[in-house]
Amino acid sequence: MTTAETNTKNPVSEEQYKYDDVSKSRVRGMWARSGVPHKHMDSAKTIHETMDRDSIWWSTYEYILNNLGKDSGSIFIITGKRGVGKTQMAACIVRIMCLTFRSASYRRASDMYAILKATFDSKSSELTLIDRWSEKPKGDDNKSRLMIIDDMQDRANSDWESRTLNQIVDRRYGNCLDTILITNEKRTNIQQTIGPSIISRADETGGIIECTWDSFRAL
Ligand SMILES: Nc1ncnc2c1ncn2[C@@H]1O[C@H](COP(=O)(O)OP(=O)(O)O)[C@@H](O)[C@H]1O
Ligand SMILES: [Mg+2]
Repeated sequence: MTTAETNTKNPVSEEQYKYDDVSKSRVRGMWARSGVPHKHMDSAKTIHETMDRDSIWWSTYEYILNNLGKDSGSIFIITGKRGVGKTQMAACIVRIMCLTFRSASYRRASDMYAILKATFDSKSSELTLIDRWSEKPKGDDNKSRLMIIDDMQDRANSDWESRTLNQIVDRRYGNCLDTILITNEKRTNIQQTIGPSIISRADETGGIIECTWDSFRAL
């Protein structure tokens, strides 16, 4: 390589640099808007990098990740007692989705219902929100390829809550968008609380994952 060439900026890497910069800020924006709790956000990278690959937590995480993002509208229900790392797994999944430019959103069930209830006395309608949460993302329009609803056990299980959840999950499935529901309840209870329709869709498209290992909090 000549001195002249060495001193000339390579136009290709210059372009690549600009691309990397845009993609980095796009990933950062998606991650920041995802709604993942800060505590779980902060540990997501370290846990992804250092977690024992032979652990059951890792194989469960990897299994779910490998079955998402196929544009088939997969539904997973993750159950298990407190502290087994369900929310952390959700955070790690969202992080990988963002790093691969697939938008993902995280909400606790109680927050989701509070947002929907707030439409009761405002001009925006509940259906507009349900539409927005169920439609395919285009560009950076804040819609989610993956939607995670955590702490499902905190619902009151009213008819309205069940109907709304069915609408969201069903419409996302129809639009080939993935959904993960997380609950601390036992697997045997979810037939009643989450309902047979979502459970049979989950059986067909993703699965019901029981986290039966020990709590990380007890270690
Ligand atoms: N794979 C993991 N390795 C190490 N610590 C973890 C892992 N998963 C979760 N934790 C930690 O354990 C605690 C409980 O995890 P969390 O995801 O909140 O549990 P859950 O949602 O099942 O109640 C958190 O402090 C979390 O950061
Ligand atoms: Mg949790």
